[in-house]
Amino acid sequence: MHSPLDASQTKTVSGLYQRDQVSLASCQHIRFAPLEVETGKGAVLVEPGGRELLDLSAGGAAAGLGYAHPAIVQAVSDAVRNMPAIGVYGTAYPDAVELAELLISITPLKSVDPCVYLGLAGSDANSAVIQGIRSAMPGKKILAFHHSYHGGFGASQSISGVWNGGEASSSEVDFVPYGDTAVVRRALAVGDVAAVFVEPVLCDGGIVIAPDGYLSALRELCDRYGTLLVVDEVKVGLGRTGHLFAFQRDGVTPDIVTLGKTLGGGLPLSAAIAPREILGAHAATSILTMAGNSVSVAAGLAALKVILAEDYAGRGRALGQTLSALLSEFKREFGSIVDVRNWGLVGGIELRQSDGGPATELMKRFVYRAWQLGVVFIYVGPNSNVAELTPSLVISDAQLSTAFGRLRQALRDALAGRVTDAEIAPFAGW
Ligand SMILES: Cc1ncc(COP(=O)(O)O)c(C=O)c1O
Repeated sequence: MHSPLDASQTKTVSGLYQRDQVSLASCQHIRFAPLEVETGKGAVLVEPGGRELLDLSAGGAAAGLGYAHPAIVQAVSDAVRNMPAIGVYGTAYPDAVELAELLISITPLKSVDPCVYLGLAGSDANSAVIQGIRSAMPGKKILAFHHSYHGGFGASQSISGVWNGGEASSSEVDFVPYGDTAVVRRALAVGDVAAVFVEPVLCDGGIVIAPDGYLSALRELCDRYGTLLVVDEVKVGLGRTGHLFAFQRDGVTPDIVTLGKTLGGGLPLSAAIAPREILGAHAATSILTMAGNSVSVAAGLAALKVILAEDYAGRGRALGQTLSALLSEFKREFGSIVDVRNWGLVGGIELRQSDGGPATELMKRFVYRAWQLGVVFIYVGPNSNVAELTPSLVISDAQLSTAFGRLRQALRDALAGRVTDAEIAPFAGW
């Protein structure tokens, strides 16, 4: 492994980052450091010039199998040489049908007659579900949570508290605080809510983990008031929490489940598994030409087979124990300015000021210094003061431990003023 950058070295060597700034649109950037990557393998990213970084983000939890997993490389290489379809809109092809059948067989759902939407991203899978619900139950609302994230475009963006600041209630969506069942009961009792959309962990909302029993309490309320329960497993599904589906911790059977990120093995792929009356009632209501693209679907099928055959849920559980121990050690060193939490391999480090307020500026220095020392992560939360740790499920205990050694050094350095205002100025994060 190449040694980390010298502490004083803050500029990238190749100039790639500067070219990116000029040529790519900032509307699709959330940047924390001048991260440049030439290749990736497993949990390791390699910069131009060869410096290696340990990736504790896995591209926002999407590289759940790491970068360039051999099964994905094989599946994609085979599929791209023999492409039966660009998407599923006009063609039945074997991998798409097999993936849909496999998803139906592994997803615990209330419906006895489910079907599968195959999409490109979590955003369009959730949007297709919202459109299906609105068409089946016109005039009724969606109930979502403050600081939730269901998508970066269209309908799924409109029910994401992260974008709406949790303030915007309308005839189509209401936002309520996460973790409070009484407020959900009151909202459902009015009788105008079609569906509750919930994440098992509010990740972009600051790594807020659903308390034990919260999801089953929502299930009970939805049953009582005839409301659909939609569990968004786009980020934490498929093993990361130590369960194939996070909602299995609470023994919950949802009405609708959405998946993405890890499902594609690194390629653009998502899925919504839902009752036929929601997603299969009308043709051509949620169309994207490339949704269900045959290369992405081949990757997804390979990824899902690896996840099941190699017990990624067990892996998520075991790695989660290592992460817990490392987070506790981190907390022991930094004390009251740090709060730590994790559910399996979904972790958070919250930074606070000595008066208890959010340490947003310190977080900017921490993430930047970590990049300098060879660790990549992002921060989240309404106050931008929570480090989101969602490494790939192929990371080793040793890599996690090395990464945490660097994280501890990074926070020490950030606290000691070794990161300047000028260095972090170009990086707004969220
Ligand atoms: C819980 C959840 N749902 C949906 C999405 C949207 O997924 P995508 O960015 O793939 O559209 C995200 C993205 O972070 C997410 O975390």
